[in-house]
Amino acid sequence: MTTVRVAPPAAGLRGTLVVPGDKSIAHRALLLGALAEGTTTVTGVPGGGDVRSTLGAVRALGATVEERDGTVRIEGRGLALGADARLDCGNSGTTMRLGAGLVAGASATVTLDGDASLRRRPMERVAAPLRAMGAAVETTAGHAPLTVRGGGLGAVDWTLPVASAQVKSAILLAALRARGTTRVREPLPTRDHSERLLAHLGARIACTPEAVSLEGGHALRGGRVALPGDVSSAAFLVVAALLVPGSELRLTDVGVNPTRTGALAILRRMGAPIEVAGTHDVAGEPRAELRARSARLHGTTVTPAEVPAAIDELPILCVAAAYAHGETIVEGAGELRVKESDRIAALEQLRLLGVDVRTTAEGLVIRGSGGRRLGGARVDSHGDHRIAMAFAVAGLVADGGVEVADAGSADVSFPGFFMRLAELGATVEQG
Ligand code: S3P
Repeated sequence: MTTVRVAPPAAGLRGTLVVPGDKSIAHRALLLGALAEGTTTVTGVPGGGDVRSTLGAVRALGATVEERDGTVRIEGRGLALGADARLDCGNSGTTMRLGAGLVAGASATVTLDGDASLRRRPMERVAAPLRAMGAAVETTAGHAPLTVRGGGLGAVDWTLPVASAQVKSAILLAALRARGTTRVREPLPTRDHSERLLAHLGARIACTPEAVSLEGGHALRGGRVALPGDVSSAAFLVVAALLVPGSELRLTDVGVNPTRTGALAILRRMGAPIEVAGTHDVAGEPRAELRARSARLHGTTVTPAEVPAAIDELPILCVAAAYAHGETIVEGAGELRVKESDRIAALEQLRLLGVDVRTTAEGLVIRGSGGRRLGGARVDSHGDHRIAMAFAVAGLVADGGVEVADAGSADVSFPGFFMRLAELGATVEQG
């Protein structure tokens, strides 16, 4: 339960940085590598707790995994992957939901469990389609622990009631071992890393605006996956640069898949000078250098249609809104209530920093300080990495700084985050 206080730096934040590898793609590369034939080599694997949970899971299911300096080599088991196991998914929703899809096609009984936060998150949304495909899935009143008895799957045509890349991906992973062609339809486009990686590893997959279709029964072939930097981690540093006067940061080799960069578009609309330079594709995923410098921001309205491509960045966007001129309204973001914490409730703590914030069932209304320093305060991360980092960034422009209780939760996605802020000149005290 580390407490960290972050206070304004004496000068602007300047420099060129590398952020940890993309967590979302890392989970997928490890899970698909385990199900592929031959060797998959993943480079730039981030060290956070969530990815460790997925590494543990694929090992328990029978894949051979070697790790060295951020490179992971997996000897996959092909479509035969699976063993009776109990998987500890820790804090990671992606490990649990995609893991459930992965094992739904295995002739094995697998129990997936996690920490107290993960046990509070909804799992019926993933259990229902897997049952429709023929797996026996028991949840604990709709939550983890959940037990999957897999095998003998048939294809489904499934329309997601809630836009969720995790549920979409779980169905696609199960579909690899189902008879026939599975189709998944989503109410709004969500991150498409699974689709891109499945295509990269040889799956028979087709994507149209209406549906993703995958033909089951064909093995993947292992390959090389070089992970870009995680744009969700980069977003904290981008907003830090926007807020602290005199800043200019360059973040190299960051993933800029358009299903993930909604927050950059919203920030630009708020007046942020963010440049995306040198975009190029590696292993089917675009990456680029991000450049951001301090600027006068103004409020905006984030619409429900914009939420999926910015979902993980909404906490840090709210911090940008808290310092902006005018009002920001976030609408249609009820999913924030079922993330690692109830992020809408956690963000209400902006009020402790003197910010005028009102919450609704599905969002927030924030009146920014108009570029005036926020008040110092002590807040709680609610055990949520993105809440810890968002309030730490708020501390960079808060008189006396912001003390974040349980700040160690940042480690699940961005180990070394606070050290990075300190290297950039922020006052960071632990204790
Ligand atoms: C993720 C999808 C999103 C996101 C999460 C990672 C993924 O969750 O919030 O951090 O890797 O597929 P949902 O699928 O619940 O929207």
